[in-house]
Amino acid sequence: MLNIALFGPPGAGKGTQSSRLVEKYNLTYISTGDILREEIKEGTVLGMKAKDVIEKGGLASDEIIVQIIEAKIKRNPYANGFLFDGFPRTIVQAYILEGMLFKMNTRLTCMLSLEVPKKELMKRLHERGKSSGRADDTEEVIQNRLKEYDEKTYPVAKFYKDKGIYNGINGIGTLDDVFKRLDAAVQKSLEDRWVNLILFGYPGSGKGTQARMLAERYNLHYISTGKILRQEIKDNTDIGKLAKPYMEKGAIVPDEYAIKLIERKMEENHKSNGFIFKGFPRTMVQAYILDGMLHKVGSTITSVFELKISATEAVKRLVDRSKTDQKRPYDMQIETIISRLEEYEQRTLMAKDFYDKKHLLHVVDGQGTEEEVLKRITDRFDNTILRNPR
Ligand code: AP5
Ligand code: MG
Repeated sequence: MLNIALFGPPGAGKGTQSSRLVEKYNLTYISTGDILREEIKEGTVLGMKAKDVIEKGGLASDEIIVQIIEAKIKRNPYANGFLFDGFPRTIVQAYILEGMLFKMNTRLTCMLSLEVPKKELMKRLHERGKSSGRADDTEEVIQNRLKEYDEKTYPVAKFYKDKGIYNGINGIGTLDDVFKRLDAAVQKSLEDRWVNLILFGYPGSGKGTQARMLAERYNLHYISTGKILRQEIKDNTDIGKLAKPYMEKGAIVPDEYAIKLIERKMEENHKSNGFIFKGFPRTMVQAYILDGMLHKVGSTITSVFELKISATEAVKRLVDRSKTDQKRPYDMQIETIISRLEEYEQRTLMAKDFYDKKHLLHVVDGQGTEEEVLKRITDRFDNTILRNPR
């Protein structure tokens, strides 16, 4: 997800620039000011509660704002991302936004703050007041709104400066000039962000093959816990010795070994564009663990793909592989193959469900040539996760 907060004093041009950002990045627009004005117009309970404060240029209560934002987010469960205009406006709201985005397994990508001197703001708002019909575009109320901004809203900037995602943008110039500056800041934030993918599917569904191709295409670091563990066993390391008996039975290796190995890989490759995980998470517990590990370094899972093939096709592919030099020790016995398929059905499907509930899961047909399957994944990826939109 790409989530942007557009920040700045009244009249800075937040509303004006919003539509172009929304269009370019395919975002869901949430303007608390617009929604409140709409509620007042329709005479809803919420609107009536907020009316007096707004017309005097004060801030509506945080409770009201939370209700508005929650409702809007709920109505858009498949949003590509959100553009927040006029929110968060208090430190309390900044914390609330953190919590809401965390619940959706995402976070704020950047805060864009339009900077415009007070004299220019007054000029713009007086001008707008002639035709806007906004009850708060009068001299006295404008003064009040600017005062509220200085006292309660401006401190929010520091919150995001401390998080390292604050971008001060010069708001003076033509609409095109200002948009170009905003857009450049968004692009820069996208570059700084990791893309993290997970591949699910039966043993033999082609996860390794696809993961390698995807890693190359998107410049991601490929983390296969199975592959790393096999290497550890071969090198006879401490973890290798401990993991060996589990691997040979086709059973899941204890979580602490996998965590150590993944953390090491993420640290070694922190400069990459992100990671593609294969063979981890395999259980719901591991799904929580991965969320925790990524959160610790300020990142999240971007997308999850399941390569769908039937159980019989999986068995056939594994038996075929056992006759080639690509064979794995655990491909050799039908009992092991069956126990791996069962493991997947019993435990990994729950991990998959974990991401489905977060709306991160994409199911892709795993039959066909490697290129056909890759195209199915990349089509979905490029269309849903607009990384570098034109
Ligand atoms: P809200 O609607 O958010 O108002 P605001 O923050 O005061 O901002 P404005 O909408 O007035 O300005 P803008 O930055 O969008 O500028 P615009 O693009 O229109 O909030 C209204 C009220 O609701 C608040 O006071 C509060 O009571 C309540 N509220 C809202 N959210 C809340 C929250 N989270 N918590 C609590 N209360 C909340 O541009 C202004 C003018 O300048 C336009 O005429 C435009 O054409 C012109 N202009 C734009 N760009 C340029 C440019 N580059 N050069 C020249 N002119 C330009
Ligand atoms: Mg506005």
